[in-house]
Amino acid sequence: MNGYGIGEAVPFVEWGPNGGQPIRSPAGTLTFDRNSMCGEPARTVGWRDPGFIHTSFLKELWPNTLYTYKLGHILSNGTYVWSQEYKFRASPYPGQNSLQRVVIFGDMGKAEADGSNEYNDFQHGSLNTTKQLIRDLNNIDIAFLIGDICYANGYLSQWDQFTAQVEPIASTVPFMIASGNHERDWPGSGSFYGNKDSGGECGVLAETMFYVPTENRAKFWYSTDYGMFRFCVADTEHDWREGTEQYQFIEHCLASVDRQKQPWLIFLAHRVLGYSSATFYADTGSFGEPMGRESLQKLWQKYKVDIAIYGHAHHYERTCPIYQNICTNKEKQHYKGAMNGTIHVVAGGGGAGLAEFTTLNTKWSFFKDYDYGFVKLTAFDHSSLLFEYKKSSDGKVYDSFTISRDYRDILACTVDSCPSTNLAS
Ligand SMILES: [Fe+2]
Repeated sequence: MNGYGIGEAVPFVEWGPNGGQPIRSPAGTLTFDRNSMCGEPARTVGWRDPGFIHTSFLKELWPNTLYTYKLGHILSNGTYVWSQEYKFRASPYPGQNSLQRVVIFGDMGKAEADGSNEYNDFQHGSLNTTKQLIRDLNNIDIAFLIGDICYANGYLSQWDQFTAQVEPIASTVPFMIASGNHERDWPGSGSFYGNKDSGGECGVLAETMFYVPTENRAKFWYSTDYGMFRFCVADTEHDWREGTEQYQFIEHCLASVDRQKQPWLIFLAHRVLGYSSATFYADTGSFGEPMGRESLQKLWQKYKVDIAIYGHAHHYERTCPIYQNICTNKEKQHYKGAMNGTIHVVAGGGGAGLAEFTTLNTKWSFFKDYDYGFVKLTAFDHSSLLFEYKKSSDGKVYDSFTISRDYRDILACTVDSCPSTNLAS
């Protein structure tokens, strides 16, 4: 992002294999004005001219190859303006067998190390999360921040504060986001929930500041592959129920992956569509977003989703492999063969103020932690996955499990996971 419009300078990226011949790729330019904000404060006291947001596509990358890049502008008088030089490693080819490490968390926010941020001052945990991720960046291949990104809530300059905080991460590994209530929700704007959580941004900041491979950036659901992983990312701020456009997308995303090549199928969403023991969900009686699992559990079961991960509830929780409120597997640490259900995880402790757990006994809940943290998935190969939950305060592992299985275990039928058959031949 910078201060040059398309009439003033030509943006591009100069990049190439580390030590090799660099090439240049053009960048597109986007911006928006005050009128595209839906309400206040984004449209009034929170408004700040965003400058210009550039997006460039570096294509035909060699898998797992180290690249260098820098951002440039050619000014109208022929001079160049350069960023510093950055490095990234290209993603593995979909299905490729190599070590692949993914971190996932929600609800991070941003903060000032000196405490000078007086507005929205409840995201101190974000500094620890950011610090741990940077410290471990050599062991992280891709990061997902699954909604409630920076809590700017209509005070636009806070997006710049956030992007500065995460730049060491976002400039080095793919930094993928999902949309949350604090990015999108606004009354009368088509969000599934009609509250004012976005402070009038109604999704415009998230959809412009970050690129994600959606078909339509205003409808924030997408599919993305990373080696042996397939991620289906839902947008909980738009309707997901059966019969909707998004439901169709989710089914297509889950159904279209070749599990022999990409065995690790992960569902991501901001609000808890599965299971949660957060007090504010327990109080609704549904232990999750009303209409969440009622609508989607048959898809998770049919397509054998391994893990579903959410944010929104600001803490950590992990369930048993579960289907229709019943644990399908009693094992807690080392899953072998078919799990017969999906493990649901809440990883909403990215940094914004913590949320309480109910005192009710939720039998499907295996592990709860009222603290800041994030989860890490490590795929060693097509048969072996490690899940870890780490606290942001010390980066150490406080909960973990492994999945060991072969392709035939994914093919195996379990309740509601195979088409009903008859004896006709
Ligand atoms: Fe949220």
